[in-house]
Amino acid sequence: MTNQTKPIRVLFVCLGNICRSPMAEAVFCDMVKQAGLAGRIEADSAGTYPDHVSEPPHHGTQKVLQQHGITYEHRARIVTRSDGQRFNYVVLLEQSNMEEVRWICGQTSAHVGMLLDWAPATGLRDVPDPYYTGGFDQVYGLIAQGCRGLLQHIIEQH
Ligand code: 4NP
Repeated sequence: MTNQTKPIRVLFVCLGNICRSPMAEAVFCDMVKQAGLAGRIEADSAGTYPDHVSEPPHHGTQKVLQQHGITYEHRARIVTRSDGQRFNYVVLLEQSNMEEVRWICGQTSAHVGMLLDWAPATGLRDVPDPYYTGGFDQVYGLIAQGCRGLLQHIIEQH
């Protein structure tokens, strides 16, 4: 990374903003810290479905993050139009949210894409939704691979 003045800002987006995107935010921020890039790369998360606004992460997400020694501070919120202006990257966990994110954000210079496109070895584009079926450990593994690839990409590009 060069010595850019403004931080590179990444927004992770899923449906409810209580399971997958807050996990991605926390995992990514932990990787950024470990790479010594805190303050130069920032992350946040949001959802497209309003029913869980203001809630903390799902207990399954909290448990996995605790198991990996990753701290977090998060309350659910929905994506807003200004997110498209404030973030350099809008990173989706599931393709089904793409249409709504594009509609909410409108014209944006942000890169809008899928997290797992930075983890081609997974062979997946969607991180499975653990809300009804569990599987938070598998979700963590996929998110960690995607975040590693995304961080590498940002380091190389900026
Ligand atoms: P998330 O998971 O999108 O990863 O936060 C979900 C959270 C809530 C619901 C579905 C998925 N819900 O239907 O309430």
